Amino acid sequence: MRYRIRWTDFPGELAWNAAICLYELLTLGPHRAKWWRMHRVLRRRFRGLDPERMALEAQGPRPESLACGETPAASLLHLLRHSGLAPGGRFVDLGSGRGLAVFTACLAGFPASGLEYFPESVERSRLAAADLGLQADFEAGDFLEAPWPAGDLYYLASTAFGERTRGRLATRLAEELSPGTLVITLDWVLDPADFEGLQTLPIPVTWGVARAFTWRRRGGDPEPSGDAPGDPR
Ligand SMILES: C[S@@+](CC[C@H](N)C(=O)[O-])C[C@H]1O[C@@H](n2cnc3c(N)ncnc32)[C@H](O)[C@@H]1O
Repeated sequence: MRYRIRWTDFPGELAWNAAICLYELLTLGPHRAKWWRMHRVLRRRFRGLDPERMALEAQGPRPESLACGETPAASLLHLLRHSGLAPGGRFVDLGSGRGLAVFTACLAGFPASGLEYFPESVERSRLAAADLGLQADFEAGDFLEAPWPAGDLYYLASTAFGERTRGRLATRLAEELSPGTLVITLDWVLDPADFEGLQTLPIPVTWGVARAFTWRRRGGDPEPSGDAPGDPR
């Protein structure tokens, strides 16, 4: 496959990236300096790595889920703030890309881990964690098969995940997470028989605006009587 980029491809993406920068500037408040440092370190450590090309070249065995894109720090902070994740709760990003969401959770005070398909990205995320002095763990592996890091909140930037990927992930989420574990999915509604819907929030992401659904694994404590099954749609 050949990749050709024309100058006419740029204005829309540039405009959207500028809008995200403005959104971050306006919403990150007094902690902006930390976030800009994180961006600087990530830019430096990931220089020369082209995730779009890596995804296209890996399409043979994994045609579905490798689209790249990022959740801006301000969007992730907004989700964490409203997620109900207790202080000290562990955040896990399944498909962690450069590690931006993992670093953001760490900077917000949550221990955090990422699992990512591309070992090159994981290597660089580890170097970035060392540069930033953050206790962030990164593992390389396929989230459909590899063991998942232990966590209290699992984040899936799932907008581009295809049917096969979603099917396998839904089975693992239902079978492996203990009652009470939180899950955030983007543009993907989980089975309400297994997951109680807690909230829906629209969030800016690099590929547009996604609907973020927060879920809690059912089971354990009995539901309060009279409650309708929660579906955040
Ligand atoms: C849309 S990006 C999101 C990156 C990050 N979670 C964020 O929100 O900023 C999705 C990431 O999931 C990774 N991914 C896709 N399929 C995967 C799989 N089967 N196993 C592990 N990682 C996967 C991709 O390589 C990509 O880095």
